[in-house]
Amino acid sequence: MDKLKDQTSLIAILFLLLLGAIYLFVYAPTTTNPLLSSQPQHCQSLNTTSSATVDSSGSDALEAALAEASRSNNKTVIIAIVNKAYVEGDDRSMLGLFLNSFWHGEGTRGLIDHLLLVAVDQTAFERCKFLRLHCYKLVTDGVEFDGEEVYMSDDFIKMMWRRTLFLGDVLKRGYNFIFMDTDVMWLRNPFSRLIQNDTVDLQISTDFFNGDQWSQSNPINTGFYMIMSNNKTVSLFDSWYAKKDNSTGLKEQDVLNTMIHDEGVFQHLGLRVRFLDTLYFSGFCQDSRDVRAVTTVHSNCCRTINAKVTDLTSVIHDWKRFRAASLSSSPNETSAFSWSRHVACVDSWH
Ligand SMILES: *[C@@H]1O[C@H](CO)[C@@H](O)[C@H](O)[C@H]1NC(C)=O
Ligand SMILES: *[C@@H]1O[C@H](CO)[C@@H](O)[C@H](O)[C@H]1NC(C)=O
Ligand SMILES: *[C@@H]1O[C@H](CO)[C@@H](O)[C@H](O)[C@H]1NC(C)=O
Ligand SMILES: *[C@@H]1O[C@H](CO)[C@@H](O)[C@H](O)[C@H]1NC(C)=O
Ligand SMILES: *[C@@H]1O[C@H](CO)[C@@H](O)[C@H](O)[C@H]1NC(C)=O
Ligand SMILES: *[C@@H]1O[C@H](CO)[C@@H](O)[C@H](O)[C@H]1NC(C)=O
Repeated sequence: MDKLKDQTSLIAILFLLLLGAIYLFVYAPTTTNPLLSSQPQHCQSLNTTSSATVDSSGSDALEAALAEASRSNNKTVIIAIVNKAYVEGDDRSMLGLFLNSFWHGEGTRGLIDHLLLVAVDQTAFERCKFLRLHCYKLVTDGVEFDGEEVYMSDDFIKMMWRRTLFLGDVLKRGYNFIFMDTDVMWLRNPFSRLIQNDTVDLQISTDFFNGDQWSQSNPINTGFYMIMSNNKTVSLFDSWYAKKDNSTGLKEQDVLNTMIHDEGVFQHLGLRVRFLDTLYFSGFCQDSRDVRAVTTVHSNCCRTINAKVTDLTSVIHDWKRFRAASLSSSPNETSAFSWSRHVACVDSWH
């Protein structure tokens, strides 16, 4: 019985639908045909509430990603750029190591909420989404930067210029950021060692620190810096990117160096720049002399991803050893601390 009733209702509904359709197409004036005219409006009013992780093809996806990553952090985000070579290697990926450092660091776990991973290929983007991080896919016309971009190869340089353009765009949108390479380990919260008001425009890490945080003769490293969004920093990125086609054989860091030393770009734009002490912002070129003060460790002065992963793994082990010793309050052990030698990185140049 029920089944028969259902079929009757179904037929009735179909009949009504047919009548409706006939009315719409035959009798309703075409200009006010609700089916046709409402279609485009309907598409526009369907707001996707998704974050950039769902759709990252448009520029609004970037805005959404930035807004989410900077939530309750004063329009400040932490940006790292990843590609396939950095997410692969299941036990030993650079990305895995990088995220691991947020876990083992002191007061760094919550900072992952402010991390925006910028993927330059599909594999890296999918891995990022899988990890439920804030992700953005940086699209470049027809190029997937998915290999290991060996230091100074053409693709390496192309990727660096693409990121300069992208980071300038972030500044133009009014976001301050810490930019870092994924081969920077976070052992403590670096914000406590950075000036966070607009008295300083740029704070940049150094390969070697000469003792004066305002001295432009410090050799800069663009693998870690914090930059405030304002007209001066936007101009800096515009002038920097404008050098792209007239800088054959130079990477963007060399170009910035030329701008600083030959053109005096910081004075010219009125930028106040602070150079970060390796005591706090350590690297393989010059190790922090005090593990009790260090906040980040960068595997600079190193050539390949494999070597970086090997030696940064030792950094995490050193750090865990130090932490265990300081918790068990054996002062002799902590005062005797020294970093493991960066053997793989030294060898990577040979
Ligand atoms: C749809 O998105 C636009 C722009 O992103 C916004 O101004 C508008 O308020 C949104 N509408 C709804 C219903 O969420
Ligand atoms: C945001 O900035 C305001 C004013 O500069 C400051 O008082 C506040 O502590 C900052 N908040 C965070 C989370 O940094
Ligand atoms: C900016 O921050 C620095 C260090 O955090 C502090 O010494 C200085 O007084 C601050 N300046 C202003 C104008 O808030
Ligand atoms: C930056 O420049 C724009 C126009 O060039 C101007 O409207 C704005 O006030 C400037 N902002 C600051 C902070 O100087
Ligand atoms: C390219 O650089 C050279 C020197 O570095 C300079 O003389 C020349 O004017 C530059 N050309 C352009 C188009 O900027
Ligand atoms: C710690 O070092 C001091 C001298 O530096 C030494 O006298 C002391 O015996 C050491 N303590 C332990 C537990 O090794």
